[in-house]
Amino acid sequence: MRVLSGIQPTGRFHWGNYFGAIRQYIDLQTEEAAFYFIANLHALTTVRDPEVLHGYTVDAAIDLLALGLDPDQAVLFVQSDVPAVSELTWLLMTGAPMGLLERCHAYKDKKARGLSADAGLFNYPVLMAADILAYDSEIVPVGADQIQHIEVCRDLAMSFNHSFGEVLCIPKAKVLDASAKVPGTDGEKMSKSYDNTLEVFESPKVQRKKIMRITTDSRPMEEPKDPQGDPLYQLYSLVASDEDREQMEKTYREGGFGYGEVKKALADAAESYFAEPRARREALAAKPERIEEILADGASAASRKANEVLQRVQRACGIAR
Ligand code: ADP
Ligand code: TRP
Repeated sequence: MRVLSGIQPTGRFHWGNYFGAIRQYIDLQTEEAAFYFIANLHALTTVRDPEVLHGYTVDAAIDLLALGLDPDQAVLFVQSDVPAVSELTWLLMTGAPMGLLERCHAYKDKKARGLSADAGLFNYPVLMAADILAYDSEIVPVGADQIQHIEVCRDLAMSFNHSFGEVLCIPKAKVLDASAKVPGTDGEKMSKSYDNTLEVFESPKVQRKKIMRITTDSRPMEEPKDPQGDPLYQLYSLVASDEDREQMEKTYREGGFGYGEVKKALADAAESYFAEPRARREALAAKPERIEEILADGASAASRKANEVLQRVQRACGIAR
């Protein structure tokens, strides 16, 4: 299977990004072909400071490699290094119904909040469709929030094929764990917009402080508690071993424990869970030329495939002979 996924460099990665998306697509890198990219053109719709955008892009590459993305197995590249995708976006846009894009949540939610949206946000799903179609992708591993965009991509591809013949490969979303909604330190969904994140690579000291401040209920210690649905337990389950998780579940059900102990156990488990990636990250960050080389190799492998698909599309619609 040909697998592809992308992630926007709009901030440092948090546990939601890792457990909800990144981990799942790194697991698929052993497939026949795997393309993973850093969606800096998408991020430009929100990050408007050039230094910051560039910094997040490089950090995203280092983070992905530290988290296990292996450039010998998968192609890692930066979205804007493949200009064919931007051209394919235009070709798809010529047949994209306004109504379909008006229903897409990023644009619709902004409008509903009375904010003015720009054309970049409106056309965001078309660029995403081009990202996917440019590599003849078959499987797109994504978090549950991206399913709508994959549906739009499929609609655009089918309608293009209807007009011009069987040119585009119709992809499928792979939502590996639809229930993976990682809670933040306030119990709501973890998101950088809510300022409730635990970052994957923040210092263990900073992270421990954040964990100790996680909001909990005020039930008495001795009361038995249901671990399911408890944000602290959910976070702990992500980073604890199976054995420790089962033990914690028992502790919850029996009662007689304090949330302070759970927080301490969570901070310890998180520190050891991310210890290896953290060490790998430090080693990689010390070799910026190696990162540049990996991204340049990725860009040329990705461009080769995207140019081939673009030519097929251009021929089909009468732009090229
Ligand atoms: P944020 O909400 O912090 O801006 P993004 O929208 O950039 O995060 O997230 C990128 C991807 O990470 C999303 O498409 C989604 O699949 C995944 N993701 C983000 N937050 C969570 C979460 N709390 N739980 C599960 N997955 C998440
Ligand atoms: N829109 C995705 C997100 O915010 C990122 C993305 C851009 C993407 N292009 C893609 C994901 C193509 C999968 C395939 O998470």
